[in-house]
Amino acid sequence: MMTSAIKKAVIPVAGLGTRFLPATKAMPKEMLTVVDRPLIQYAVEELFAAGIEEIIFVTGRNKSALEDHFDHAYELEATLESRGKIGPLSALVDALPPEGNFVYTRQQRPLGLGHAVWCARHFIGHEPFAVVLPDDLVLADVPCMQQMVEAYEACGGANIVGIMDVPRAQTSRYGIIEPGESKDQLVEVKGLVEKPDPKVAPSTLSVIGRYILMPEIFEFLGRKQTGAGGEIQLTDAMAQLLGQQPFYGFAYAGTRFDCGDKVGYMKANIAFGLARAEMREPLVEFMQSLGVGKD
Ligand code: G1P
Repeated sequence: MMTSAIKKAVIPVAGLGTRFLPATKAMPKEMLTVVDRPLIQYAVEELFAAGIEEIIFVTGRNKSALEDHFDHAYELEATLESRGKIGPLSALVDALPPEGNFVYTRQQRPLGLGHAVWCARHFIGHEPFAVVLPDDLVLADVPCMQQMVEAYEACGGANIVGIMDVPRAQTSRYGIIEPGESKDQLVEVKGLVEKPDPKVAPSTLSVIGRYILMPEIFEFLGRKQTGAGGEIQLTDAMAQLLGQQPFYGFAYAGTRFDCGDKVGYMKANIAFGLARAEMREPLVEFMQSLGVGKD
């Protein structure tokens, strides 16, 4: 694990997951699985790989499965041990965080992503921090947040958001940046708009759910100004940092899947399955048998 200039992260997990009902009726959407692990575990593993160890989850009602997922499951562990299933047992136990490194707070009202991040302010204190939205899954050789922390260190510290180009018709689904000059993978951010209509979007470079932010963001989030959809938007608070602090978009190496969308989620399962050496061949054979790729 790398030693990181960023020590803390926020994972907002209060969303209801209405787009995945009925799957998410009695289960948090962050527990939806891609291959064999839930979305939340990918988010945590990505943060660990970036050297971040202290994480605050901003949760809501009916999210206790997330806390259980990162705790011992004594009956299960005892059963695996008694059956001599040492491999699966170690995998479970090794994935647990060091005690006290994860904390949970509740966003008591659904006031938006900006409000959810603001709920983490006391835990973060006055230091730069990461935010990961578990709906956004990135398949990459070097985990996305690790790439971002390396870019953060190389540029001497700045606000950085992961960006990807999207079709213009999709700008109204994302935060969109107005780009300035670019150097290597970093693009200067001159403006930020939440979910603009394609006709007025300043570019097609969308913000993905990966952020490194300076603590001054809390000052703007604390003003509780509402924006797109009547919600307190993280994008709007970030826009207020522009001009005051360096701010970049980061064109990460990798493929991002929007798992908040059913097609994106299915694509993630296929891509992550194909990326597993032991699963690739049978999956390719199956897809061929379906006639995928033929007219
Ligand atoms: C949020 C952000 C948006 C960002 C997106 C990435 O939107 O508000 O700026 O582009 O995540 O997934 P949401 O998906 O919560 O509507």
